[in-house]
Amino acid sequence: MTSTFSAAASAEAGARPVPALEVKDLRISYGAVEAVKGISFTVEQGEFVTLLGPSGCGKTTTLRCIAGLESPSGGVIKINGAEVASVARQLSPDRRGINMVFQSYAVWPHLTVEQNVAYGLHGKKLERSEIRRRALAALELVGLEKFADRYGTELSGGQQQRVAVARATVTDPAIILFDEPLSNLDAGLRERMRAELLTLQRQIGRTAIYVTHDQSEAMAMSDKIILMNNGLIDQQATPRELYNRPRTRFAADFVGTTNVLEGTLETTGSRRVFREGAQGIELAVSDREVPDGSVVAVTRPEHIRLTTDTSSLNALPGTVLSVEFLGNRCDVSVEVRGIRFRIEAPASFDAGVGSPITVVFDPDAILILPATAQA
Ligand SMILES: Nc1ncnc2c1ncn2[C@@H]1O[C@H](COP(=O)(O)OP(=O)(O)O)[C@@H](O)[C@H]1O
Ligand SMILES: [Mg+2]
Repeated sequence: MTSTFSAAASAEAGARPVPALEVKDLRISYGAVEAVKGISFTVEQGEFVTLLGPSGCGKTTTLRCIAGLESPSGGVIKINGAEVASVARQLSPDRRGINMVFQSYAVWPHLTVEQNVAYGLHGKKLERSEIRRRALAALELVGLEKFADRYGTELSGGQQQRVAVARATVTDPAIILFDEPLSNLDAGLRERMRAELLTLQRQIGRTAIYVTHDQSEAMAMSDKIILMNNGLIDQQATPRELYNRPRTRFAADFVGTTNVLEGTLETTGSRRVFREGAQGIELAVSDREVPDGSVVAVTRPEHIRLTTDTSSLNALPGTVLSVEFLGNRCDVSVEVRGIRFRIEAPASFDAGVGSPITVVFDPDAILILPATAQA
């Protein structure tokens, strides 16, 4: 290595703050079962990053390994630049500067709010007055200072969530880990709590790693989503990128509603045509990224238009199968040559079931993915 190169490298390293978390080629096995099969990702300071994926894909295992509750069978984990886990090295959980918020909050009913929060400070050889000062400061951060003397049983679900967050921040951790903290709640409460949790996280400004199988939760809360499938990372992206540019069929299917067609792509001059395999539906597409050959074409419901005008590009005759009026829009199912499409229509849409309709696909909004990218 020349000295010029190393000077440039260190200047660059100096310009960027060290990431809060670096996971490199992480593998985790339970006996013969490899639950995590080699994943790499980085979490920047203050970022809210979500591990999203179906049940059993390895989210909790990854989180527990970051916390120090599991050991890697391969790879490295660094927190604030320092190695905390590898095959050779395993720093104990209490020395990693990490706290975890669990599904049930685990707020102890027989302790007061203050005692619940102060619990994490015991064993740290602090003066009683200092423990009290820090616990109250953490409660103030989540707006619960007036509830310090209440018991766990006297709190609403939202207040328990705040106590759990205060307890997780009181030791001043580098990173807070959340494992499906909202999954026990019913739908309405869950939506309120996720908004509140996000506000809290922004207020306290902590780096957070959040695990969920719920794509709408991940979309609403995250700076970055790490989509996992079967022990591997399928795609890492912002919520917008993941929705607008899924890289695999798995990602397209897992996030949002999709219409998926399998077929082939063929380019003639400047024209690219997707030809669906079974029914021979043909669509002009603008996508330039994927080469000709076997592909899947993915379209979101909001990118298909329903009309009576049959003259547009990519207009296909179909039949209305069902119409769900949802107040601000209609969710419509339309059959085109035996294939069912899910389409989002304006609230004013009022064609009856069985009526003929023209379906128009915007060539710019048809996403082409290589068939081999299927997971
Ligand atoms: N303690 C364990 N012993 C053996 N296998 C486990 C253990 N914990 C998890 N697994 C397996 O590891 C895989 C990933 O599990 P997990 O990380 O809990 O998934 P997720 O949190 O994404 O639902 C699953 O196949 C699961 O059965
Ligand atoms: Mg889990």
